[in-house]
Amino acid sequence: MNDSKSPRNRVAAHIRELPKSGIRDFFELVMSMDDIISLGVGEPDFVTPWGIREATIYSLEKGHTSYTSNLGLLSLRQQACEYVRKDFGVSYDAESECIVTVGVSEGLDLILRAILEVGDEVVYHEPCYVSYPACIKMAQAKPLPLVTTEEDGFSLDPAKLKSTLTDRTKVLLLNFPNNPTGANLSRDQKKEIAEIAVAHDLIVITDEIYAELTYGERSPSIAAFPGMKERTVFLHGFSKAFAMTGFRIGYACGPSDLIDAMMKIHQYSMLCASIMGQEAAKEALKNGRRDMESMKSAYLTRRNMIVKRLNNIGLPCVNPEGAFYVYPNISSTGLSSQEFATRLLKEERVAVVPGTAFSQEGEKHVRCAYAVSTSDLETALDRIKGFVERVRSENKTSPGFRKHKKDKVAIAN
Ligand SMILES: Cc1ncc(COP(=O)(O)O)c(C=O)c1O
Repeated sequence: MNDSKSPRNRVAAHIRELPKSGIRDFFELVMSMDDIISLGVGEPDFVTPWGIREATIYSLEKGHTSYTSNLGLLSLRQQACEYVRKDFGVSYDAESECIVTVGVSEGLDLILRAILEVGDEVVYHEPCYVSYPACIKMAQAKPLPLVTTEEDGFSLDPAKLKSTLTDRTKVLLLNFPNNPTGANLSRDQKKEIAEIAVAHDLIVITDEIYAELTYGERSPSIAAFPGMKERTVFLHGFSKAFAMTGFRIGYACGPSDLIDAMMKIHQYSMLCASIMGQEAAKEALKNGRRDMESMKSAYLTRRNMIVKRLNNIGLPCVNPEGAFYVYPNISSTGLSSQEFATRLLKEERVAVVPGTAFSQEGEKHVRCAYAVSTSDLETALDRIKGFVERVRSENKTSPGFRKHKKDKVAIAN
């Protein structure tokens, strides 16, 4: 039998080697259970604001059901570029430096496929959004993770970045405010990182999907720093801040040669983003700011509540400066992140995501998304408290745990 046709070889090697998402089995289990409070999914609990839904219905009524330009509606690109200029401090030409994508997900895939070749490296910080290492591998390049730590507030230390780079590193991929930690970068950190990117001639991809959900002072995008606009691809979208996950609209702004290269892939693989989603995005940019601010203020109230209560329970967490996630340290329970999440789900019907989904170093953490109602959050935290107390009392009577705990302390020292 011809070996190249054997079933084992039907799937391309780089896809065969791609691990399935670390949280897939876990969410299969969540979906099979009733009455769960889920702090698991990274999705706003708010329905898309009515004004945006209404504008979408109206555009359908008017019969807007066609393809659009491959790059997306020019009117949307113009609005998006104006928004980026005002809110992020960078000016782009709507006709040549902007493309509308199917969410940030497609924008990320397009830019990675457009610029990477076998052997190129992409440096990115871990813990990170689950898609990053997978998308880098799908583009046949090598992921170069840079571990961010609790001690550094999960922010990116420019000195560590510098020492991680090699001759093959072509791209730096950033996501701040960060999924899963909520960490952010200060203006000074961005400046230092920008200087490194210029000195090492890196292309920078900045995923700013959580930018509006910044609770402290908001600094300009890294694309706005000297020497950066020409080397940065700015990815943004409507899923999180405007509660529009189902509309699947994002956009990328960057140098025209890179947008052009992204466009080549997009026109053959996707053709264009859906016109209904694009009409909705136009309305979000035109009139959505007030709703966005009120959702942000609800997230902030919940953030303050969850951080305070987790710390009181003895699951310390770095105070998230943005997004809607918190990443508590669960090591005092003696459970692995998978054990913690599975037992919490089965015993208390609360879903959180094991930290190992976001980083090889994630064993000491779980991710809790606080995009749920305040009352559900209160109940979930009561259940987490009860669970942690029970685990701790079990540990007191279990000599096995004491040994485990002692080993851990020894390692930590
Ligand atoms: C950091 C980050 N980037 C991108 C995405 C995907 O966004 P979109 O819905 O725009 O594809 C997510 C979704 O959770 C995310 O957390």
